Amino acid sequence: MVDPFPLGRPARLAVFASERGSNLIALLEAFPPLGARGVEADAVVALVISDRADAGALRIAHDAGVPARHLPYGRDREAFEAVAQDELQRAGIDVVALAGFMRILSPAFVARWHGRLLNVHPSLLPDFPGLHAVERALAAGVERSGCTVHFVDAGVDTGPVVVRREVPILAGDDAATLQARIQAEEHRVYPAAVRAVVRGEARPQVAPAGGGGGA
Ligand code: GRF
Repeated sequence: MVDPFPLGRPARLAVFASERGSNLIALLEAFPPLGARGVEADAVVALVISDRADAGALRIAHDAGVPARHLPYGRDREAFEAVAQDELQRAGIDVVALAGFMRILSPAFVARWHGRLLNVHPSLLPDFPGLHAVERALAAGVERSGCTVHFVDAGVDTGPVVVRREVPILAGDDAATLQARIQAEEHRVYPAAVRAVVRGEARPQVAPAGGGGGA
């Protein structure tokens, strides 16, 4: 049985990351591993897991004094998830934030972490789920893009939305400039979304008939 949010103590947050780790930096600033001095912290970053040994996120975690684990993914998702689950349990993790984690988690893992597993995606979901979202938004000629933080369900970028934030697409934008503008917004909204979840203010809703989801 899992305790509902709010927990009455700082939630212990794990971050899964495969890439640079800029969202991890934003989460570490909001939820320092030892707690914010003189402030009742909503959460503390307590563990970082990466499937890639060369992920910038591992170095960032190490520099911040957060336990960081490289768990090779190999060809066996279940084996990776079993080790990850063990690490999460041993660290007493309450909530998991995917931040540039480039693997699809199994339905069983997702179900186990229902309501406690978040992802940030660089588009206004449900538009442009999956890979290359920034490039695809540019190619589609849309006027606005943005980012979405959502609860993870068994689909790819389909779970209930916690927050969506628009950014404009400007004349002359390329994938790098647009991605930078979107990421600046991600760094603001991801900590805010985690805070809303651990305070019990955002919960996954049962999707209404006809699908969609969104909280
Ligand atoms: C973010 O832009 C996020 O939207 C996507 O992966 C990227 C990770 O960037 N899922 P970083 O590693 O946090 O810098």
